[in-house]
Amino acid sequence: MIKKISLCFVVILQGAIYGFSQTGQGTLPKLISENGRHALLVDGEPFFILGAQAHNSSGWPSMLRQLWNAIEEVHANTLEVPIYWEQLEARQGKFDFSIVDTLLNQAREHKAHLVLLWFATWKNGSSHYMPEWMKREPEKYPNITGKDGRPVDSPSPNITATMEADVNAFANLMKYLKKADEQHTVILIQVENESGSWGSVRDYSPKAQKLFEGAVPADLLKPGILKALHVPIVSEGSWQKVFGERADEYFQAWSVARFIGEVAAGGKAEYALPMYVNAALRDPLTNPSAANYESGGPTDNVIPIWKAAAPAIDLLAPDIYLSGSERTMKVIDLYDRPDNALFVPELGWSEDRVKYLYEVMARGGIGFSPFGIDDNGRGSLQTEISLRLAPFAQEYVMAAPMMRELAKWGFEGKIKAVVERDDHADQTIDLGVWQAVISFGAGERKASEKINIQPNGKLIIVQLDVNKFILIGTLCRITFHPVDKYAGRAWQYLKVEEGRYDNGIFKSRRTLNGDETDWGGPRFGAAPIVLQTELILR
Ligand code: DGJ
Repeated sequence: MIKKISLCFVVILQGAIYGFSQTGQGTLPKLISENGRHALLVDGEPFFILGAQAHNSSGWPSMLRQLWNAIEEVHANTLEVPIYWEQLEARQGKFDFSIVDTLLNQAREHKAHLVLLWFATWKNGSSHYMPEWMKREPEKYPNITGKDGRPVDSPSPNITATMEADVNAFANLMKYLKKADEQHTVILIQVENESGSWGSVRDYSPKAQKLFEGAVPADLLKPGILKALHVPIVSEGSWQKVFGERADEYFQAWSVARFIGEVAAGGKAEYALPMYVNAALRDPLTNPSAANYESGGPTDNVIPIWKAAAPAIDLLAPDIYLSGSERTMKVIDLYDRPDNALFVPELGWSEDRVKYLYEVMARGGIGFSPFGIDDNGRGSLQTEISLRLAPFAQEYVMAAPMMRELAKWGFEGKIKAVVERDDHADQTIDLGVWQAVISFGAGERKASEKINIQPNGKLIIVQLDVNKFILIGTLCRITFHPVDKYAGRAWQYLKVEEGRYDNGIFKSRRTLNGDETDWGGPRFGAAPIVLQTELILR
């Protein structure tokens, strides 16, 4: 007989409303890892960032009202917002932190957390956020020189003066933040933005060339790293000799990562918040050459280089703009590693990408955030904004009151998820003595009677006990089968309750039965619902 243990799962969140501490007594946010899984601790408990990112030019005081309106509308618990180097240090050595104060005050008023994005030496491969005083001195703070000697609109990572200026500005920011944010409203820092170079795989200036012709640093010649980079294990050699056709890209990755690692270390020496670097992705399926993507950023193939070169960076995070379920799932897989917590800091704002929220949660990821929450000064109608935010808002409304439980379950490995693939095929989840079969569609009696126009179905299963589960989903239907020694046995739902989490406790709104659970199990429609269900063998 399958054991039935009734489970009382109560998480008490003292002094917190959906994860925001009111007391100001929170401990320093930090990342922890256990058994290859990770958690972002905020106020000492696992936290999941239900985030939303501002447009690039919306981190100005005059734009904040619409940002907060959007945060409220989408029910995000965290705003990701840029801090511009050109604004912070408009005059060399003179820092203006007023935007930091404004953001902190407004975030607290809105009971939201902040992720600050340090737009500095790199923004999408260029240096457009460098202060004017640096832009005016291109000899001192030069760009990359392309292979044929042509100028490239990307900062050289091999210039000490640029690095020192960035380290200094960032360290000042972190020093200020430490004093101004005892409440830990800011929970995470992004260092630079989509670093690397477009238009040239590396810097071919004489200075960089000399470095390239020198020896590969010993820190990179560790057998484990070389193995991960699929090259023979050697103890010395030039970049070309050790890395062959990938030498230019790996040199650039090492140079960018070393630079940014120094910036992060300088900031952490002042205030040790968790820090990450975001990646402009390459096609994860075809191993293209670096001429086809942003070279030197933390693309999947150079993660081992970044880990060795930038130990002060806690994690490398994919910005997901590519499409197709195979590609997207591959990316998620590549950045979810025992040495790398999964975080999606940017995601193209489209309905078909919402489903990956479930995948990130199930893998014990630390957060998820669509890009471009606000109307970007366009004066859009409120209905237009609401329509755009709606697919994310309905998920965040569901997840926000149980965010702490989801984060904890994810960290403990209790969540499994399926997201509908482009071929709409059924999927199964193994749950010990049960197997769940999930079919996608919106049919009343059979999911596939009304196939989903877009493959947007998704489901999370949290295993609370041998026979007891939390189910959250949309546009699919689930049924169970007993397996192994119970295979073929009769079974039924003991109870299926629809409800919501409130302060750590499941509150039932109604019990589903009859048409709502017959026809092969509960059905999930266009808006997510939370079910608590228990199964019994007969
Ligand atoms: C990715 C970048 O990281 C963002 O800052 C933004 O430029 C988007 N691309 C494009 O809208």
